Amino acid sequence: MKRILATFALPLALTVGATPGHAEGNAVTGKDTFISRCWSCHSVEEGGRDKIGPNLFGLFGATAGQRAASYESRHSAELKKSGIVWNEETLDKWLAGPEKFVPGTKMPFVGFPKKTDRDDVIAYLKSVTQ
Ligand code: HEC
Repeated sequence: MKRILATFALPLALTVGATPGHAEGNAVTGKDTFISRCWSCHSVEEGGRDKIGPNLFGLFGATAGQRAASYESRHSAELKKSGIVWNEETLDKWLAGPEKFVPGTKMPFVGFPKKTDRDDVIAYLKSVTQ
């Protein structure tokens, strides 16, 4: 039993261990923020439908604009050719101001000025999209 617990505990510990210098967000607060600010345009569950924006399942480690095949034709050329790989760092820049990070993007979101909002939403996304 101890062995089984250790097997499960290890990957969790690795996931929780934040990138150096990156404050770990609160996924519970992040869920509320996501529902009020992102959910109208994005689903997060595996196989979830595309709305105004693409479904976000499988986001981490994916290249921007290339993951959701079902949404391909609706992505902006700017995001598709950006070559951005989604991780905590790139999502932080994106959520601070999409238009500033990727000029010409079609995501109509002004950005979160507060780092805690970005950290929380990123923590939530991490917990549900992989
Ligand atoms: C009004 C609709 C709208 C809202 C609100 C919105 N998005 Fe988006 N989002 C989009 C659209 C449209 C795109 C596609 C952008 C493009 O192709 O240039 C997108 C793209 C993205 C991508 C890139 C997806 C990929 O496959 O590369 C991420 C990540 C993302 N949004 C996260 C969020 C988060 C997190 C929030 C909430 C803070 C949010 N979005 C709010 C419409 C929206």
